[in-house]
Amino acid sequence: MTASSLADPLIAPSILSADFARLGEEIAAIEAAGADIVHVDVMDGHFVPNLTIGPAVIRALRRVTTLPLDTHLMISNAEAMIPAYVDAGCDWISVHYEACDHLHRVVQAIAESGVKPGVALNPHTPPEVLKYVLQDLHHVLVMTVNPGFGGQSLISGVLDKIRTLRAWIDAEGLDVRIEVDGGVKVSNIGRIRSAGADVFVAGSAVFKSGNYPETIGLLRQRALDSDAGLIG
Ligand code: DX5
Ligand code: ZN
Repeated sequence: MTASSLADPLIAPSILSADFARLGEEIAAIEAAGADIVHVDVMDGHFVPNLTIGPAVIRALRRVTTLPLDTHLMISNAEAMIPAYVDAGCDWISVHYEACDHLHRVVQAIAESGVKPGVALNPHTPPEVLKYVLQDLHHVLVMTVNPGFGGQSLISGVLDKIRTLRAWIDAEGLDVRIEVDGGVKVSNIGRIRSAGADVFVAGSAVFKSGNYPETIGLLRQRALDSDAGLIG
């Protein structure tokens, strides 16, 4: 049997559900509450039907936290925009497979900039599209909702995609994280963990909870409970 390279669970609150008028305070609050990384959703109104923030805001966030900034680019022209996001201070950058004609080139450009490259897959996109690029990635971002909005329900059928990716990563002995984004809650993170994910984006689950330390702690605990076979 091949050993699993499943890493300790990382909790990544998505600031899409934060109070944008108090963004600096919100970042400080999740940092104090035990968040591992900050998930930053960039939407352009073209690739997805919503519009959020860009490099200027990320540059400002960079000044107020030491947590890694995990930027999820939901934009059509990702290839042209990589230098601006690298320069703004991102630590991880995910581009969508569906938005890149030259995915291999974009991934290399991110890595050569010293940033950890990831590829995001929409719910309908099969994992096979990553066959010739998987070994170059730091992470795969598996979308468990259709991108564009927070607060949607997890599409359970996508958990099979996580199992497939976990099997490939373990069989090939790759050092690639599986990050899951969309509808992650305290009530379902155990199932997602047992499918093989190691990074968990949670927007509304954290920011609408009213108690960030408790919610982040519970998310982590339920993932670890799953590892211990207590829930699945
Ligand atoms: C959706 C974004 C997600 C979103 C998740 O397009 O990529 O990161 O913030 O929000 P929740 O956790 O509320 O589903
Ligand atoms: Zn996201």
